[in-house]
Amino acid sequence: MTQYILALDQGTTSSRAILFDREGRIRGAAQQEYPQHFPQPGWVEHDPRDIWNSQLKVAREVLRASHVAHAQVAAIGIANQRETTIVWDRKSGEPVANAIVWQDRRTAGECDRLRAEGVAERIGQRTGLELDAYFSASKLAWLLEHVPGVRSRADRGELAFGTVDSWLVFKLCGRHVTDASNASRTMLFNIHEMKWDQELLDLFGIPASMLPDVVESAGEAGTASSEWFGGPIPITGIAGDQQAAMFGQACHRPGMVKNTYGTGCFMLMHAGQRPAVSHNRLLSTVGWSVGGTTDYLIEGSVFMGGATVQWLRDGLGIIRESHEVEALAASVPDNGGVFLVPAFAGLGAPHWDPYARGTLVGMTRGTNKGHIARAAVEAIAYQSAELLAAMCRDASVPVAEVRADGGAARNDLLMQFQADLLGVPVVRPRVTETTALGAAYLAGLAVGFWASQEEIAAQWQAERRFEPSIGADERRGLMARWDEAVARSKGWA
Ligand code: G3P
Repeated sequence: MTQYILALDQGTTSSRAILFDREGRIRGAAQQEYPQHFPQPGWVEHDPRDIWNSQLKVAREVLRASHVAHAQVAAIGIANQRETTIVWDRKSGEPVANAIVWQDRRTAGECDRLRAEGVAERIGQRTGLELDAYFSASKLAWLLEHVPGVRSRADRGELAFGTVDSWLVFKLCGRHVTDASNASRTMLFNIHEMKWDQELLDLFGIPASMLPDVVESAGEAGTASSEWFGGPIPITGIAGDQQAAMFGQACHRPGMVKNTYGTGCFMLMHAGQRPAVSHNRLLSTVGWSVGGTTDYLIEGSVFMGGATVQWLRDGLGIIRESHEVEALAASVPDNGGVFLVPAFAGLGAPHWDPYARGTLVGMTRGTNKGHIARAAVEAIAYQSAELLAAMCRDASVPVAEVRADGGAARNDLLMQFQADLLGVPVVRPRVTETTALGAAYLAGLAVGFWASQEEIAAQWQAERRFEPSIGADERRGLMARWDEAVARSKGWA
C-alpha cells in the first residue's frame, strides 16, 4: 500500500522535496540552494538546468534517506515559484536561454509603453493582473525578441514555453502542461473563460503553439519516468507556490486569509468560485481547479518582507543572523517614534509606486539600533495590514483570522504586533511547510490518498494563536502614523 506523497517545492532560491504521510505529517525533507544570476542591474536569471538538477537531486535524496521506494509513493505534487519564464526545444529538451525570474525588471519599459497605448484595463479585465513586468507575458516576448533564432524556431513550432511547473513536468515525463493557477500568472490566460487568450497572445506576439495544455491542479498531469526514481510515480498535483500554501493552510472557503512571510509577503484571500474584481489594485487570480470547479483568490504582495531584515543584516550590519532581529527589536519597549518604510524597490499593492524609496523617519538623539530593528519588524506588519485592509474593502465576507506561515512567522514579536494591527487573531499552524503540504494535498486528492477537502481541512491544526491586544483607537492611531511615513516615501526617485 502506498504510504506517502512526495511534494516538490521549487522556490526562488532553493529546491526542496518533502515526504508527507496520510496524517499530513512530514516524514522526510531535503533542500538545496542553487545559483542566482544577475547579469545586469534589475535582471534576475536562473539556469533551468540548475532548477531541474537540484529538484531531481533533493527528490531522490529524500526518498533514499527515508528508505522509501517509488512504489510506496502514491503521487507527486509540485509547487513552484510563479511567473518565472522558460523556453525550451521540444525535441532536445534544452532551454534556449536562462529562465527570466519573476523579480526581473528588464521589461518594465515595455510595460510602460503598453500602458501608454491604453491596454492596461483590457489586460486587467481578462487576467485579473496589473500590467507589470512581474508576470510572464513581457518576459516571454523579450526572449522571442532578443535571443537569436528563437522567434523563427517558435514560429516553426519547435519551442515550448512554460513556467517552472511546466518545465519540471516536461523533464519528469515529457508532457507539456501547466495548471490554471500557474497559467493565471502569465498574463496570457483569461481567468473568466479559463483558457489562453488569443487577443493577449497577439498583443505580446506569442505563437499559440508554444503554450502548454492547462490541466486541473488536482488531476493526472503525467507519470514520472522510471529512470528518475526506479519506477513510475504519477504526477497529480500542480499549483503556484502561493496558491499551494493557501491550499495547505486549508483556506478553502470565502473570506479565509493566509499570509506568507518570506523574502516578500504574499497575502491571499479566498474569493469564492467566481473571479473577484478588486477596486483596490489587488490581483484577482486562480487559486486551484479541482474536480471541475475553480476557486479564485485575491492577492496582494509586499516586496520587502523578510528582505527588510536581510537589509539590517547585510546593509546596516546591526545583526549577524536574521533570527537575531527579534531579540534586538525586543531590547526596546517600543519603536520610540521611528518608522521605516522599506520601499527599496518601490511599493507594491495597494500603492503600486515604482518611484517610492526607503524612508526612515522619526529619529531623535535617543534612537538606537533597537528602535531601527523594531521599526523594520513593524514595517512588515504595517505593510501586511495595508493589504488586509484593502482586501476587506474588496471582500463581501468578514475576516475571522489570518493564517501565517513562512520563515518570519516564527518571530513571535512580529506575529503579536501583526495581530494588534489587524484587529483579528493571527494563527500559526503546526505544519509551517504549507507550500509543500498544499502541493501534496492536491496530488493526494487526485489519487484518493485523501478523500475530500473536508478531510484535509480537519488535519489543519493551530500551533499558536496571537490575539489582538490593543483597541481600535490605538490601532487607527498607529496606522495613521504609518500612512504619514508612507506618504513621505512616495515618488522620491
Ligand atoms: O510570485 C512569486 C512567488 O511565487 C515566489 O515565491 O517562495 O519562491 O519566493 P518564493
